[in-house]
Amino acid sequence: MEYSSLYPWIYLFLIILSNIWNVESKKFVVTDFGAVPDGKTDSTEGFASAWEKACGIDGGMVSVPIGTFLVKSGNFNGPCNGETLFHIDGIVKASNDPTLNSQDYWITFFEVDGLTVSGNGVFDGNGAASCKMFHLIIHESDNVTVDNVHISAPEDSPNTDGIHIGDANHTTITNSYISTGDDCISIGEGSNNVNISGVSCGPGHGISIGSLGKYEEEAGVSQITVRNCTFNGTQNGLRIKTWAPSSCSSVVSGVTFADIVIENVDNPIIIDQYYCPRVV
Ligand SMILES: *[C@@H]1O[C@H](CO)[C@@H](O)[C@H](O)[C@H]1NC(C)=O
Ligand SMILES: *[C@@H]1O[C@H](CO)[C@@H](O)[C@H](O)[C@H]1NC(C)=O
Ligand SMILES: *[C@@H]1O[C@H](CO)[C@@H](O)[C@H](O)[C@H]1NC(C)=O
Ligand SMILES: *[C@@H]1O[C@H](CO)[C@@H](O)[C@H](O)[C@H]1NC(C)=O
Ligand SMILES: *[C@@H]1O[C@H](CO)[C@@H](O)[C@H](O)[C@H]1NC(C)=O
Repeated sequence: MEYSSLYPWIYLFLIILSNIWNVESKKFVVTDFGAVPDGKTDSTEGFASAWEKACGIDGGMVSVPIGTFLVKSGNFNGPCNGETLFHIDGIVKASNDPTLNSQDYWITFFEVDGLTVSGNGVFDGNGAASCKMFHLIIHESDNVTVDNVHISAPEDSPNTDGIHIGDANHTTITNSYISTGDDCISIGEGSNNVNISGVSCGPGHGISIGSLGKYEEEAGVSQITVRNCTFNGTQNGLRIKTWAPSSCSSVVSGVTFADIVIENVDNPIIIDQYYCPRVV
């Protein structure tokens, strides 16, 4: 074979190599940033550093390998430089340190457009029974996908919503398992185009829209689709909850609840316009 006829092949080889290199160089493994998979060492900083890198480039990925990582808090803020991925194979575990009770949230994705959270990993609330906080927050973001994620918190943990969506458009949650002490997924003001499918909820309080009407000038909620989901041992299936009296008149529209399996659920569908403030 002449050398000249080898050139195209060498060229092709280099392209393939550079693509592999590219994918690899966009992946930031938390253990390379000081996170330790021993379930004891606080890996908060390691996660933060890996996020900073991934958020900085289009297609950047935070990778959480097999193992148990203790993360006291995760504030993953955008805006990022394009699409961002957060892939979890291991277990991300909350701390049961009571001094952390003052923080409102555990894992927050804030102002991140085009985020995908995926993997077979677990967000483990770690029996943080006294920690009144949401697990995973998606706030002020567009085009966020959560796929194949497990979230677990004890049934008796108050206000431990699995996933909270607020002020976000085009959110997709698929193929996930969520067991908590409060809402499986809560959808707050300013949420539009939320697609939830293939999600198993239970125990917990089911999927909620609201609570709405606490504040003045709240944006409405529209186009919420819950399809092919299972509720097993939950207080509710789908609930819409508002304050009475409401501080504003926000509108909830375009809600679809279809192909749902319900077992051992108190209220399959409930609209509660006197949810708060609670009369004692
Ligand atoms: C969501 O869409 C609404 C209506 O188009 C818009 O006002 C709002 O800024 C959008 N929010 C985000 C976070 O993209
Ligand atoms: C969200 O996705 C749509 C469709 O893929 C795209 O047109 C839009 O620009 C995206 N929005 C942002 C803020 O990335
Ligand atoms: C949600 O699902 C509907 C069909 O069920 C589809 O038309 C729509 O594009 C989906 N939206 C998102 C944000 O994936
Ligand atoms: C329904 O969700 C389950 C996961 O709970 C998934 O395996 C199945 O493919 C989904 N079916 C459809 C029609 O989307
Ligand atoms: C509900 O949970 C019970 C107890 O874990 C289980 O036996 C049952 O098969 C579940 N039902 C559905 C529909 O998943």
